[in-house]
Amino acid sequence: MQLADRLDQLGTETAFAVSGAAAAWAAQGNRVYPFHLGDMNLATPPNIVDAMNAAIADGKTGYCPAAGIPAQREALAADIGAGRGMALGPEHIVVQPGGKPVITKFIQTLMNPGDGVLYPNPGYPIYESQIEYFGGRPLPYRYHETPTGFGIDLDQLRALAPRARLLIYNNLQNPLGCESSPEEMAEIARLAVEHDLQVLSDEAYFEMRYSGTSTSIASLPGMAERTVILYTFSKKFAMTGWRLGCAAAPAPIAEQIAKINTNDESCTTHFVQEAGVEALRDPSGAAVLLAELERRRDAAVGALAEIDGISVATPEATFYLFPNVTDAMARMGFDDVGDFATAALQQTGVSFCTRHHFGTAQPEETDHYIRLAYSGISVVDIEDGLGNLAAWVAST
Ligand SMILES: Cc1ncc(COP(=O)(O)O)c(C=O)c1O
Repeated sequence: MQLADRLDQLGTETAFAVSGAAAAWAAQGNRVYPFHLGDMNLATPPNIVDAMNAAIADGKTGYCPAAGIPAQREALAADIGAGRGMALGPEHIVVQPGGKPVITKFIQTLMNPGDGVLYPNPGYPIYESQIEYFGGRPLPYRYHETPTGFGIDLDQLRALAPRARLLIYNNLQNPLGCESSPEEMAEIARLAVEHDLQVLSDEAYFEMRYSGTSTSIASLPGMAERTVILYTFSKKFAMTGWRLGCAAAPAPIAEQIAKINTNDESCTTHFVQEAGVEALRDPSGAAVLLAELERRRDAAVGALAEIDGISVATPEATFYLFPNVTDAMARMGFDDVGDFATAALQQTGVSFCTRHHFGTAQPEETDHYIRLAYSGISVVDIEDGLGNLAAWVAST
């Protein structure tokens, strides 16, 4: 069979391979503690489920406008605008089946083959995959560890920016769990304006925070007209499988993205959008979900603090931890973080991703990191699993 050559450029989300390994281990009768996938084992709030059922009963099961139903676009414009201090109208909103399609549609709308695209590394792996698939020039930018988490290497970003046309920025970051300081964000915006970059602001975790408030880079001077915001219902409302999100973009860009919608999926499911309108009308269920996630964060950070050779900051946002395991690995005789992860699964049942699932490591990186997602595991299991991990690290 002859497949299209361009498929050689298409990457994937290798975290799903970790799920496969965990499932295979569980199928052999072993206990698995799932810290690998950013999915959620929490129920979608009932008012949202009820609204979807009512919409189906009401016959909202056919095609609908490619850019989204008017009520959903209006509700999203009001909500996203209010949360960011921006004046947005329905003409800025293009509804999507999830947040992920915004990544590919941003690239398809604004990138020509050969254009340089800055993107975070470690970062969400779909950025690199889509840049390469559509023939762009990947320009990964790195982070450094700080006493409170991670920060962007601004010197490297300044050096790369003249070669770029697009910038992908993920504040409240997967996998690092970190957040830009106001100074860091201002400098990134300044670089975007200076080099006339088109920006994707991936705000999948904008509201997934336990203290403080989020700022969108799109709200900084000179940024609204060059920024596409990725918004998703997936995390805030525990709706990962519903597939509902949107791009919030300057109107001419939004129009082009809507044209791609028509070509790709025609429209986002009508009754799912009706449920999305209800989610924004009464978002009280989101606070309950966030309170549970905060308990899990505290349990996970507390348990990791007991493990000699593993260090981690306490993120105020997202549901990810990115512990440095360099010392534990050295003491236990591991050179490769993938081998450490495999042994951890087999010895303790704890399943997690490593730094290598989030972009190609750069040669100067010498420390080893793992990523723990606590969105799909209860407090009791967090304590059990990480207790096992602690005992294994201490005994080896
Ligand atoms: C940084 C980031 N962006 C986008 C997404 C896509 O989310 P979804 O397509 O479920 O809305 C994710 C999902 O994990 C993510 O971590």
